[in-house]
Amino acid sequence: MADEGIGKILKVALGVCIFCSVFVATAAVGLKGIQERNKKLDKVKNILLAGDLYTNNEEIEKIYTDYIEPVMIDLTTGEAVGEDIFNDKFNIGTFDIKVMAEDPEYGQAIPAKQDLAHIKRRPKYMVVYLVKKDDAIDKIILPMYGKGLWSTMYGFLALGSDLKTIRGLTFYEHGETPGLGGEIENPRWRKTWDGKLAFDDAGNVIITVIKGKVVPGRPEASHQVDGLSGATITTRGVDQLMKYWLGENGYGPFLSRMRRGNSDEQV
Ligand SMILES: Cc1cc2nc3c(=O)[nH]c(=O)nc-3n(C[C@H](O)[C@H](O)[C@H](O)COP(=O)(O)O)c2cc1C
Repeated sequence: MADEGIGKILKVALGVCIFCSVFVATAAVGLKGIQERNKKLDKVKNILLAGDLYTNNEEIEKIYTDYIEPVMIDLTTGEAVGEDIFNDKFNIGTFDIKVMAEDPEYGQAIPAKQDLAHIKRRPKYMVVYLVKKDDAIDKIILPMYGKGLWSTMYGFLALGSDLKTIRGLTFYEHGETPGLGGEIENPRWRKTWDGKLAFDDAGNVIITVIKGKVVPGRPEASHQVDGLSGATITTRGVDQLMKYWLGENGYGPFLSRMRRGNSDEQV
């Protein structure tokens, strides 16, 4: 009699386990699509935030289509590449930095000496985002990534049309500690980047995230940003990823081409 009772309990327990695992598995598969879409939307939201174009979640796709022109560039030459070389794996619509960096054909190893951002690999091509205003380029949004303390931090930097002044910064993916390194997401800190000089007149990268606070009024304050307190390693990571991506081994060739284009227009 007692054995029968235990048997029943085990059967019910087994039934509950099977039901729960089927339920969780179905929910996980069913929600995957929604999660992917939300991840994409969050990335687009961060492009808009960097470009100071974000208003609300309902308008994200419309504003993106109205104001942003994505362009695929070859990082080595800095040239824009045409749709003729796109295929199912390589195109603007599905471009994913992580996938492309690891791809044997579309990614490349970064020589250790050049690897200031400590990322080891990068895509050979990147999608940059031109913010258009009255048919002219108002800002250029550059995707960037680099190692922090715990994670690789992925973000966007917006440069003004002078190609020197920083107009915005966002991070959309990282695993730094909330309240410490995670403060890279804090809008107050992000705002302090607005108006800082990324380059000097000779085109050298001068933006620097310092340890501690910038002293206002000093000449170097124009290209310095406060470090995050208690997060020196994350802060150094942000500083180094800026130096890599803005430098000659990052977007340097692309920015030189753009500068030449700008000065040709002025002639
Ligand atoms: C639980 C824990 C989480 C931490 N998270 C971070 C972090 O996300 N980023 C960071 O730079 N330092 C983090 N730190 C602190 C570092 O270990 C290191 O002490 C710090 O970067 C030194 O910064 P400071 O010179 O501004 O104090 C963390 C420390 C602990 C104990």
